[in-house]
Amino acid sequence: MNILKPNLLFPLLLSLLLLSPISCSILRSSADLADSYDFIIVGAGPGGSALSNRLSENPSFSVLLIEAGGANNDSLTINVPLLCTKLTPNTQWDWNYTTTPQTHLNNRVLPFPRGIGLGGTSAVNCLVYTRGSKQNIDKWAELTNDSSWGWDSMLPYFKKSEKFNFPVDKHNITNQFNPLFHGFDGYIGVSVPGASRSIDSRIINTTQLLPSQFPFTVDMNTGDQLGVGWVQALIDQGVRSSSVAYLSPSVLARPNLDVLLHTRVSRVLPSSGNTFTTVEFSNHNNSLQTLTASKELILSAGSIGTPSILLHSGIGNATTLSSLGIPPLLNLPSVGQNLTDHIGVSTTYLVNSTLTYDTVLRNTSLSTHLLHQWLTTKTGINVDTSENHLAFLRLPSNSTVLRTFGDPAAGNETAHFEFLFQNGLSQFTPSGNYLNIPIGNVSPKSSGSVTINSTDPLSSPLINPNLLSSPIDIHILRHAILTSREFINSPAWSQYILQDLTNASSVSELDEFIRANAVSFFHPVSTASMSPYGVTEWGVVDPDLRVKGAKGLRIVDASVAPSLPAAHTSAAVYAIAEHAADIIKSAYHTK
Ligand SMILES: Cc1cc2nc3c(=O)[nH]c(=O)nc-3n(C[C@H](O)[C@H](O)[C@H](O)COP(=O)(O)OP(=O)(O)OC[C@H]3O[C@@H](n4cnc5c(N)ncnc54)[C@H](O)[C@@H]3O)c2cc1C
Ligand SMILES: *[C@@H]1O[C@H](CO)[C@@H](O)[C@H](O)[C@H]1NC(C)=O
Ligand SMILES: *[C@@H]1O[C@H](CO)[C@@H](O)[C@H](O)[C@H]1NC(C)=O
Ligand SMILES: *[C@@H]1O[C@H](CO)[C@@H](O)[C@H](O)[C@H]1NC(C)=O
Ligand SMILES: *[C@@H]1O[C@H](CO)[C@@H](O)[C@H](O)[C@H]1NC(C)=O
Ligand SMILES: *[C@@H]1O[C@H](CO)[C@@H](O)[C@H](O)[C@H]1NC(C)=O
Ligand SMILES: *[C@@H]1O[C@H](CO)[C@@H](O)[C@H](O)[C@H]1NC(C)=O
Ligand SMILES: *[C@@H]1O[C@H](CO)[C@@H](O)[C@H](O)[C@H]1NC(C)=O
Ligand SMILES: *[C@@H]1O[C@H](CO)[C@@H](O)[C@H](O)[C@H]1NC(C)=O
Ligand SMILES: *[C@@H]1O[C@H](CO)[C@@H](O)[C@H](O)[C@H]1NC(C)=O
Ligand SMILES: *[C@@H]1O[C@H](CO)[C@@H](O)[C@H](O)[C@H]1NC(C)=O
Ligand SMILES: *[C@@H]1O[C@H](CO)[C@@H](O)[C@H](O)[C@H]1NC(C)=O
Ligand SMILES: *[C@@H]1O[C@H](CO)[C@@H](O)[C@H](O)[C@H]1NC(C)=O
Repeated sequence: MNILKPNLLFPLLLSLLLLSPISCSILRSSADLADSYDFIIVGAGPGGSALSNRLSENPSFSVLLIEAGGANNDSLTINVPLLCTKLTPNTQWDWNYTTTPQTHLNNRVLPFPRGIGLGGTSAVNCLVYTRGSKQNIDKWAELTNDSSWGWDSMLPYFKKSEKFNFPVDKHNITNQFNPLFHGFDGYIGVSVPGASRSIDSRIINTTQLLPSQFPFTVDMNTGDQLGVGWVQALIDQGVRSSSVAYLSPSVLARPNLDVLLHTRVSRVLPSSGNTFTTVEFSNHNNSLQTLTASKELILSAGSIGTPSILLHSGIGNATTLSSLGIPPLLNLPSVGQNLTDHIGVSTTYLVNSTLTYDTVLRNTSLSTHLLHQWLTTKTGINVDTSENHLAFLRLPSNSTVLRTFGDPAAGNETAHFEFLFQNGLSQFTPSGNYLNIPIGNVSPKSSGSVTINSTDPLSSPLINPNLLSSPIDIHILRHAILTSREFINSPAWSQYILQDLTNASSVSELDEFIRANAVSFFHPVSTASMSPYGVTEWGVVDPDLRVKGAKGLRIVDASVAPSLPAAHTSAAVYAIAEHAADIIKSAYHTK
């Protein structure tokens, strides 16, 4: 139960909503499609939206973007950053997937949200903007044998996508970010918090009291990610900035860009030989229709959607596909394999304060007032995401865990774990005030897969991130929980923490707590990974993002990342898409 339930507030506040006009680029029906397009792009998340924008910058290219969901343009819940936790799971904006039973999490079946509609998962995520470490991105160059995927070459693409903006409360942010590492004229809004919270000074003071363990960092997006600092979030002047920022009314007004909504792609088909430029989809009459791109078909359906489409099309492990009854057209055994994801668990403390979000959730007139403040002035606590600070930290270098299992991180300057410091719970509770710290293992060694068990392209895929399957991963989480207690035990929190509600201290109690409570952090990647040119034993696409062994088919989304950065993943997908746009434009000798 939650008093901020949107259906209570909508009638009250709907009249104040400002809605952007949607241009005629959005087709009313598949009957309005042009006879042909140079590029057909599937999926309007960070990958597909950014690419549609950049390719249609060239007036001689015609581009069609196909998206399974709707416009998502009428929702306060999407636009208000602080309401992000209400967007999933099992809502109108979610594909409503779940995982297979997770063997190492007491066989629990976990929700596995993926966004549907313009913005894809970036319209439903919790907005944290992190790039990972330089070593994370350099690892991509190593795994692809292509330096253009390394940090030095990718940093300009991170910046190109970004429109850093100053926080709505106009406070001095000199020591809260490093402008040298940010872009100011891209599309996606990135900002540091625009409203202070009562725990901010305790967090900063902890970094001053325990600087060797918890160093303050001005900016965790410089490639040097370690430390505790102010969160950067995908927010533009107090409003969620999803990949729809790349599809603004002026972009949609381009005559060479069409967008077809409510249209689910079932398969890609060969137009001739190994040229896969034909897309099959169910049209608005629920019958199957095909359309062929004159240049290229590009899948941007995300780490779950893209491998599902490929497998249903006969592109994958030929043996498995044959036994399912799908004729294999291209044997690429890595399709859907190597799915890597972060795992996390929250620790919660009862605190000696009333200045937490719990108080807001319990007070209808206060929460209505704050929402009204957001609607009218775009200020107040609703302008920010769930936390004002993050920490990215490592196991100590003399740790026996690292000696026993080896270091799963991309390098010695890459985090093993992350803390998110939340001033209250995001769910209504009848009493008490809380400090909540979601703790993630951001350099997991475990990996799993996404597969299909049906010939019906509309069936749900089997998603198995196989969390904690590699033994080091639970050691990292356990160590991270103990480290978060050291943070909270600093004098900066004295007389503030009343009770640690995580009733676990021994190794076995902590492991039991983790197995009973840990969840996915929803950052799957690598299910259609890049691998070097010429390598056929593993990988799905070459470093130019062309599907190996196919012509006319590329992939541009989170699935091509060859490894998982120690970061929330959307920043990387925007950078991948910006890089992809340059690769594709140069293939046609244009900019
Ligand atoms: C609850 C949650 C919280 C998250 N929090 C953060 C965060 O704080 N910060 C962060 O950086 N990342 C976060 N992420 C992850 C981040 O949002 C994703 O990494 C990112 O959106 C991936 O981009 P993408 O383009 O690869 O795929 P997606 O964003 O998933 O987009 C894929 C699009 O393709 C469409 N599609 C799929 N299949 C088909 C089909 N068959 N036909 C037509 N269209 C199709 C989908 O509807 C969707 O619009 C979070 C994710 C979740 C679920
Ligand atoms: C759907 O059916 C209607 C009525 O039969 C028809 O007019 C329309 O063209 C069809 N649309 C498509 C996309 O096939
Ligand atoms: C949202 O977008 C759809 C599709 O373009 C459009 O039909 C609808 O009118 C829009 N809704 C609002 C409230 O603007
Ligand atoms: C997910 O579930 C919600 C609530 O039942 C529903 O409205 C929505 O359409 C579902 N999503 C999909 C893709 O079916
Ligand atoms: C890596 O790329 C270089 C050219 O840049 C090439 O000479 C070398 O053979 C490649 N190595 C592998 C393992 O593909
Ligand atoms: C912001 O803070 C920095 C460092 O504390 C200071 O040098 C600068 O003058 C301040 N800027 C403004 C506009 O007050
Ligand atoms: C943090 O430290 C400053 C001085 O460095 C002090 O004024 C402030 O009270 C401290 N805050 C808390 C919550 O301890
Ligand atoms: C393909 O899948 C089968 C199981 O269906 C498996 O035994 C085989 O190793 C896979 N092939 C490759 C190359 O991974
Ligand atoms: C998984 O990725 C690694 C590189 O990180 C690669 O060596 C391995 O072959 C991949 N496995 C599959 C099944 O693609
Ligand atoms: C690691 O070093 C710290 C201090 O430098 C020490 O307290 C700790 O016991 C060491 N741990 C191991 C496993 O050697
Ligand atoms: C990481 O390793 C490199 C190379 O060995 C070294 O130069 C660097 O100082 C190390 N960084 C840290 C934080 O230990
Ligand atoms: C596929 O897996 C789903 C989910 O585990 C299950 O409900 C369904 O029965 C399976 N279908 C087949 C054909 O095995
Ligand atoms: C709660 O905080 C107040 C000061 O704000 C302090 O006087 C009181 O002792 C604290 N209570 C506990 C149990 O620490």
